[in-house]
Amino acid sequence: MLLHVPDVLDKAQLARIRTALASADWTDGKETVGAQGALVKRNRQLPDASPLRQELGRIVLDALAASPLYFAAALPLRTLPPRFNCYEGGGNYGFHVDGSVMSVAGAGGQAAGHLRSDIACTLFLSEPDEYEGGELVVSDTYGEHQIKLPAGDLIVYPASSLHKVEPVTRGARLASFFWVQSMVRDDTRRRLLFEMDTSIQTLTRAAADANAVLTLTNIYHNLLRQWAET
Ligand code: NI
Repeated sequence: MLLHVPDVLDKAQLARIRTALASADWTDGKETVGAQGALVKRNRQLPDASPLRQELGRIVLDALAASPLYFAAALPLRTLPPRFNCYEGGGNYGFHVDGSVMSVAGAGGQAAGHLRSDIACTLFLSEPDEYEGGELVVSDTYGEHQIKLPAGDLIVYPASSLHKVEPVTRGARLASFFWVQSMVRDDTRRRLLFEMDTSIQTLTRAAADANAVLTLTNIYHNLLRQWAET
């Protein structure tokens, strides 16, 4: 499921991140991918060990925690600390796969376990008119989807899909990106739960029959109980 979550960052959070990134020290994005990814990846990132990355990552995680729509769609169990990247001067990232199992760094940079990447997220930090190109293209059984969102908006997509970032031919495209292990591994099940959750909320707002809404809510939670891994 591809889901656009608008306004994850408010104007103040966005300004804080943009100001910090304007004077940040970047590193080559090839440092965080394997040999295959390095062949097609041309961008810059904040270094993983950078204190700025941690500081800005906390702003992103706090913003996600305040988004009910994001929570309903992702049902997050664990989230890798967000990274930040910049594409400019023709920078791009050709079609690639994201690693399915990623190591989570603990204190001192030592590996502290692993995360299964069920969901990939890109949080756009530049407005669409600030750059040319730079669309995130996600390929699935329905074809290719081109995604370019307002600054502060998030796209949630299955980490299992092939995807790329088109060359940025003017300006700079800043974004944050991260992976999530969901409580519900299977994308189809996650989508069913999300659609049921959304419908229950619509019925509640419409003051539908309370007993029927209660029964549906019970079914939602019983399905989640069947499928969740925690
Ligand atoms: Ni990727």
